[in-house]
Amino acid sequence: MSSFHRTLIVLFVALFGGDMFASVSSADDGADYGYGKTATSEEISGWDIDVRPDGKGLPPGAGSVEDGEYLYEDKCAECHGSFGEGNNQFPALAGGEGTLTDKRPHRTVGSYWPHTSTLWDYINRAMPYAQPESLSDTEVYAITAYVLFLNDLVADDFVLSRENFSTVDLPNKPNFVPDSRPDTYNVRCMKDCKEPGSIHVVTSIERQPAQAVIAQSEPLRVPVGEDIYRQACGLCHDNGLAGAPKPRDDRDWSGRVDQGMQVLVRHAIEGFQGETGTMLPKGGFSHLSDEEVKSAVVYMVGESL
Ligand code: HEC
Ligand code: HEC
Repeated sequence: MSSFHRTLIVLFVALFGGDMFASVSSADDGADYGYGKTATSEEISGWDIDVRPDGKGLPPGAGSVEDGEYLYEDKCAECHGSFGEGNNQFPALAGGEGTLTDKRPHRTVGSYWPHTSTLWDYINRAMPYAQPESLSDTEVYAITAYVLFLNDLVADDFVLSRENFSTVDLPNKPNFVPDSRPDTYNVRCMKDCKEPGSIHVVTSIERQPAQAVIAQSEPLRVPVGEDIYRQACGLCHDNGLAGAPKPRDDRDWSGRVDQGMQVLVRHAIEGFQGETGTMLPKGGFSHLSDEEVKSAVVYMVGESL
């Protein structure tokens, strides 16, 4: 401990007394407040998986474009297309170069993303969609290398590793710049300020009285089963992705409906591993309420009968 710190502590004890100091230092020692527990380093390492643009956070390892091709075809192509072109409503992972200034820019990993680390991290953390965090480090390296290859950024014999990671830049990186604008141009008023009640908010966007705008707008609709289905379920169920039963397909539903509505709803809320695949709890959309999921199941089953 430096003598400066020691001096400070002496001062502190002198000013506030030993007891106070004892309680401050015991907070650092993990005092027991009667709830929670200190996270173990193992628990922390489970959460601490982010990878930064300079490669910090990457685990040791490597993976080749060649291995990535097989893995990608097996685990990703169904949704993202064999060439990264994207299937149905699933995002494309390649293409779109030179379209960023178009009216309808085509943003992909290759045309838009600034950092390779985001790609590695995203795949590692969130993909495949229904089995997040299921890939080994080697698999993530290989699949990342393959997605880079699909974007013509590396050659077909490339092997991506922690060591050469920072040599692969994404083309749009230079176009991301720090935003130097201040949060606000206004100076905060600290004295003789305007009475808040006397301030009127005016809008220059619509030169119409607010009431008129409200009257013209659509009435708010409470989301119903079909909306929830469209937002959260259709993405797999519409086309039977990953083994999801398609509404309106009797073969997919006859056995399931026999289980009764209650079981179907429970499977949709709590998740379900069946013979054709994995239904994540709430399809992965954990913000949905149980009622909303139920309404979507009712809609799906109704469509199937
Ligand atoms: C069942 C379908 C499905 C499978 C299989 C799947 N993904 Fe995805 N992927 C998605 C969806 C849906 C999104 C969009 C998620 C979002 O925006 O929240 C996505 C987003 C992504 C993105 C971000 C794209 C962008 O521009 O925002 C990447 C990268 C990606 N997936 C890579 C992969 C890789 C690599 C695999 C295989 C290991 C994989 N995905 C497997 C459905 C899937
Ligand atoms: C990521 C893909 C995915 C999403 C999103 C998804 N599901 Fe599923 N769902 C599946 C799969 C796969 C199965 C089939 C599991 C099996 O039987 O093997 C399934 C099965 C089901 C079943 C039948 C359960 C049974 O007991 O047979 C219901 C009901 C269901 N899903 C409802 C929903 C609802 C409601 C949503 C939206 C809130 C939703 N799913 C979103 C993949 C998905």
